[in-house]
Amino acid sequence: NNYGINKGSNMGSNVTRSLPDAIIIGVKKGGTRALLEYLRLHPKVRATGPEPHFFDRNYEKGFEWYRQHMPASTKGQLTIEKTPSYFVTNGVPEKVYKMSKKTKLIIVLRDPVTRAISDYAQLASRRPSVKTFEELAFIDNRTKIVDTSWPIIKIGIYIQHLVKWLEYFPIGQIHFVSGENLIKEPTYEMKLVQEFLGLEPMINDSYFSFNNTKGFPCFKKQPNSSRFQCLNRDKGRLHPDLSHSVIKRLRDFYRPFNARIYQITGHNFGWT
Ligand code: A3P
Repeated sequence: NNYGINKGSNMGSNVTRSLPDAIIIGVKKGGTRALLEYLRLHPKVRATGPEPHFFDRNYEKGFEWYRQHMPASTKGQLTIEKTPSYFVTNGVPEKVYKMSKKTKLIIVLRDPVTRAISDYAQLASRRPSVKTFEELAFIDNRTKIVDTSWPIIKIGIYIQHLVKWLEYFPIGQIHFVSGENLIKEPTYEMKLVQEFLGLEPMINDSYFSFNNTKGFPCFKKQPNSSRFQCLNRDKGRLHPDLSHSVIKRLRDFYRPFNARIYQITGHNFGWT
């Protein structure tokens, strides 16, 4: 088996590649890129650039392949990757558990209604001929029965995915980040994430500046640098305008599932 390779082969001196200590497993469009880029500001964090998609697309390549896709790190540094599809892919919780049952899991949760609209905006930007949101979200437009088989709807039923992770990991090993609050109070959310990861809190207010043009926080790579960097243009897209009745229908649909998420996490995310 592969379990013995966690701390990896020696690349000379003290530098090596390690399997991840923590994984941002979801959710798609939750703010996962922002979180990873913020975490990377910490000197004790080494993070992947692209999403490795190991547990959902490349698992047969083995843990050694996975380890080679991790950034070089030194002892005492945490290795972190993010692949948001892990959260909703069958079989992934067990595979992560088999790598290491100590893996720390992080999920950025965002109002499932705005998450769906954001996901659709991304889809439409890549495939302009796509059907309208309403055509895809409802089984038929008259009854407005929500089509739960449409992935963009299904991803937002967070509780259904979360229970599958809880079969393998205790809730205390999963940290939930509010996607909304990550935009409003990045310093506060980063304080909680750093605590969860056992990191000395270093990513503080001095790293962030809210960019009013972009409508999002931008960040600097060094605390004493004067240059703030923002995420790419594909983060913070314009959302399509949907009618109030469509939004209300979706809100009503998600409400009971959201309530169970609040209950299980002990946190009211405020998605009304
Ligand atoms: P929108 O494009 O709908 O606004 P992910 O990285 O998981 O795909 O999430 C993308 C979302 O991250 C964006 O969705 C945006 O709301 C959110 N976000 C959070 N912090 C951001 C930041 N600093 N810059 C840009 N987008 C950010």
